[in-house]
Amino acid sequence: MMNLTIFGTGACLLQRSKMLVPLVLLTLCVITQANGNASVKKFPENFLLGAATSAYQIEGGWNADGKGESVWDYYLHKQPDIVKDFTNGDIAADSYHLYERDVEILKELGAKAYRFSISWTRILPDGTTNFINPHGIAYYSRLIDLLLADNILPLVTLYHWDLPIAFSNNGGWLNETTGDRFGEYARIVFNVFGDKVKHWITVNEPSIHCSFMYEYGIHPPLKKSPGVGFYECGRNLLLAHAKAYHIYDVEFRKNQGGKVGLSLDAEWPIAASDSLDDLEAVKDYLAFSVGQYMDPIFKGDYPERLVNRIAAASRRQGCTSSRLQPFTDKQKAYINGTADFVGINHYFSLYVYRNESVRGYETPSFLGDTELGTFQDPSWPQSAFTRMREYAPGLYCLLMYLKDTYHNPAVYITENGFPMTPAEDLNDDKKAHYLRAYLKAVLDAKADGSNCQGYFFWSLVDGLEWASGLQKYKFGLYQVDYNDPSRKRTARKSALVYKEIIHSGTIDFSYNPDPYGDKCFKNT
Ligand code: NOJ
Repeated sequence: MMNLTIFGTGACLLQRSKMLVPLVLLTLCVITQANGNASVKKFPENFLLGAATSAYQIEGGWNADGKGESVWDYYLHKQPDIVKDFTNGDIAADSYHLYERDVEILKELGAKAYRFSISWTRILPDGTTNFINPHGIAYYSRLIDLLLADNILPLVTLYHWDLPIAFSNNGGWLNETTGDRFGEYARIVFNVFGDKVKHWITVNEPSIHCSFMYEYGIHPPLKKSPGVGFYECGRNLLLAHAKAYHIYDVEFRKNQGGKVGLSLDAEWPIAASDSLDDLEAVKDYLAFSVGQYMDPIFKGDYPERLVNRIAAASRRQGCTSSRLQPFTDKQKAYINGTADFVGINHYFSLYVYRNESVRGYETPSFLGDTELGTFQDPSWPQSAFTRMREYAPGLYCLLMYLKDTYHNPAVYITENGFPMTPAEDLNDDKKAHYLRAYLKAVLDAKADGSNCQGYFFWSLVDGLEWASGLQKYKFGLYQVDYNDPSRKRTARKSALVYKEIIHSGTIDFSYNPDPYGDKCFKNT
């Protein structure tokens, strides 16, 4: 018999297997989840509705006022073709100079909170505590003060992928000592900003970060080490996260009273069929994704199925020990319990099936370890990004899963978004629909007991989508004109829709504002 707890609730059970559920049932479920009458449900006053960005993606000012080089600065200058359209983050949305406009935008939206990241090398130019850059401190102080003056809560990420170049050259996240340096950086940031910032995210998306750097080698430092680097990097990032958590706990919590968590990327996997194999595949997917990070923090060790699968594949490949190095008892105790909340970056769902054909891989790889195949339903509305399709019940199910599996932790949706193509104008209807549908899923999950306390749309403004560059994916609630040196920001329809939701606390699917006619926004 299938284990029902994996799907959280009956609603998730209904749409677990698209193949076998009659179309009418599936359609009913989608309609209930995504378009139902939300007016009966309201976001509570203290629910944080906001938007998110990260330093390298929007700040620019790459060497302004003594900022040091990150791995992205260095590699995108040295090897510009890493980014498909040859753009980089040297100027990006120029938020280093235009942060006042960003805060104004947040005010226009009525946002209650803003998630942004601090650039490590703006504060510590060479990454170490040898020199603390007063200009970097001043920049973030000005931003934080402006936010607080407008009652916008800062939710601050310490590390959103922009590693100081010196540490990258020294093994990056494959070197455990990078975590020691991260702890020192975190201590300085807590010390300087902790009287004002009460929500800290240590690291952003360790899973995607590690796989893009070390499994697939598509992000700097472009080091492919399949089936090895990904786990090693994730392990070191978990230890680094725990280090920052303990530093806060011991040295700052008593006086500052804030909260520390981390942000994980989490898709929702749906079994492709009712077969036992595919139901197991879903559990494996969850173990290899959120489980790899949440289990050590919330349950004291890696998920058993993750450990067993990697060990078995390692044996098959003739390795003398598992490619997943286990935590020592001391490390397990050190990581256990180190999150006051969990940040979830959720963009899409996918169908998952057991794919034993990848088992034959003689060389180590993440995919070979999972033995999973995935696909999506082509009828789910498509964004500019192949994999990012709208299927809002997936977020509901994910929140139910977290509630049931990890004793209902405090959760913030720290990212959720839907990129449009550059060809689309300010009438970004699909993005506006996505936003409403996913917020509706959050409301539904809250009504069913999820401890979700906030939601941050990705992104406040169009930014650099890492190796995909500046041009292809438009995630912003506000368009940024990249042909204009003043980087003019203009509200899209999704921004007006979000404003209305934040203002009313409810979701009205029929509200259809005109982004070209709204006088409350500085669009003209
Ligand atoms: C997650 C990352 O945190 C963010 O930097 C990125 O832009 C979005 N996903 C969209 O891909």
